[in-house]
Amino acid sequence: MSLASKIIIANWKANPSSLKEAQDLFAKEVGEAAMHSRVKTVICPPVIYLEELSKMLHANFPQASVSLGVQDMGEAAGPLTGEVSPEMVRNFGVDYVLIGHSERRYTLGESDRIINRKVVAAIGHRIIPVLLVGEKEQNDYRYDVLAEQLRQDLVGLNSLEVSKVLTVYEPAWAVSSHPDSHADTPAEALRAIEMIREVLFKTWKLEQKETIVLYGGSVNEHNLLSFLEHPEIDGVIVGGASLSIEKFGHILKLTDNLQVRKGHDSIH
Ligand code: PGA
Repeated sequence: MSLASKIIIANWKANPSSLKEAQDLFAKEVGEAAMHSRVKTVICPPVIYLEELSKMLHANFPQASVSLGVQDMGEAAGPLTGEVSPEMVRNFGVDYVLIGHSERRYTLGESDRIINRKVVAAIGHRIIPVLLVGEKEQNDYRYDVLAEQLRQDLVGLNSLEVSKVLTVYEPAWAVSSHPDSHADTPAEALRAIEMIREVLFKTWKLEQKETIVLYGGSVNEHNLLSFLEHPEIDGVIVGGASLSIEKFGHILKLTDNLQVRKGHDSIH
């Protein structure tokens, strides 16, 4: 899969705490995204709000350049207490699923085996897996961590299937809620993204145009362009700043302006 425009993913995490607030934030963010329709926007709200937000999206913005995503998903229907199945998610018009976020890997202890099964389930249900990889501590040896996570999380998939995965380099230490967090430098993020591509090229024989790799970790309206100005960085995932309509609107506007300057095609 290749993408002509940048992609911006909003990860609301377990926020906001009421449906009313979620509807309000969603309406405003979708409105902003519709004004910047050259940018591919994906909003990942908590799954409990999905039904209402999906109805809002399809009733009010049928042409919107926004897709819905979920922040996680169970691997199958059936006896998995507490999980939400791929079919359920798909029925709400969800196109993307985040898999392997560092909060699930390192805080909740999700293993690479489970992550792999979720990636396989997503592909089997035509939901685009957004696979997040990254080291836990800043001094961890990054190439080894990235290569190991990619190989385990994508094991058993063929090249065509791997080309459908959107990969995000998001080191846990850079996520804004992490103690002493700070965004990675664009130069280091770029190196990590090159490492990810190297593994994808070597292991699955993919070509550059078959890989989409994003950066995540403390992205905001101030540092956004320092990442996005690199053609190798296909987009960003935004956590904390996606809960503020001012910040998120600004992020979409800056991305749109950058694309106009760089002459990206619209993907719609
Ligand atoms: P952050 O979160 O932008 O608040 O660092 C990003 C994420 O966790 O995906």
